[in-house]
Amino acid sequence: MQVVSSISALRSLIGQWKNDGNSVGFVPTMGNLHDGHLSLVKQAKDNTQKVIVSIFVNPMQFGENEDLDAYPRTLDQDKAKLTDVGADAVFLPSVEDMYPGGLKQQTFVEVPDISHVLCGASRPGHFRGVATVVTKLFNMVQPDAAFFGEKDFQQLQVIRTMVQDLSMPIAIHGVPTAREDSGLAMSSRNGYLSKEERLVAPELFAAMSGLGESLKKGEYLFTELAQNTARRLNEAGFVTDYVKIVNTKTLQPAVVGDKSVVILVAAYLGTTRLIDNLPVVL
Ligand code: PAF
Repeated sequence: MQVVSSISALRSLIGQWKNDGNSVGFVPTMGNLHDGHLSLVKQAKDNTQKVIVSIFVNPMQFGENEDLDAYPRTLDQDKAKLTDVGADAVFLPSVEDMYPGGLKQQTFVEVPDISHVLCGASRPGHFRGVATVVTKLFNMVQPDAAFFGEKDFQQLQVIRTMVQDLSMPIAIHGVPTAREDSGLAMSSRNGYLSKEERLVAPELFAAMSGLGESLKKGEYLFTELAQNTARRLNEAGFVTDYVKIVNTKTLQPAVVGDKSVVILVAAYLGTTRLIDNLPVVL
């Protein structure tokens, strides 16, 4: 696997691949790779001829009191995993290369409406940071296709909207959430959980699944159902940020008659903020 750190080395590698007639698949990550990330790389390998992964802990998408400094950095293990799964290259830009004028002297990409609800309401500026860095990475890599986990459901919708609005010639693939046997969605932030919290964490998926069953049975008092689920989570030891049932495309509150909805949950276990979601076809 090739390791490239500078933007110029990246451009010459991608140029070479394209001159040789290869399609390029791209998996942007913040590192600390787990099986969920590796499933994105596998999808990319199934769909494109060359696959490049970026590892960049993006300061712009972290709020002031968030876990930027504590965010796990495990570069050696990440490179070994990427080599094993057959990625062709990894791109490791520096903060200076990514934001040469500093974080404040920066043109931003802002996707309206869906960036400001749900996680965007609790984490102001987060999706602006994501949209900006993903745009920059897309401009650097110029992939034919890019692969994102459905676990970050709102992020995926933000990116899909951005790509459509800005006419970016990139196919966006959403890859289903990888889960542990307990149902817990794989996440780099699971590493923050204590032994005791790990035992409680699977309740997030269990509660969401229970809500999904109720919806499939035809129950439609969405607000009440979501409140009951939040109560169940709080009783289990979470501090729930939100449980919402929303239209899959717009992320606006579901209404009776919607055929495709998604349950979105964000909840704290101790100091760790976990998110998960469950799409439900009605
Ligand atoms: O999902 C992530 O890991 C990040 O938000 C992303 C898409 C790599 C942008 O920094």
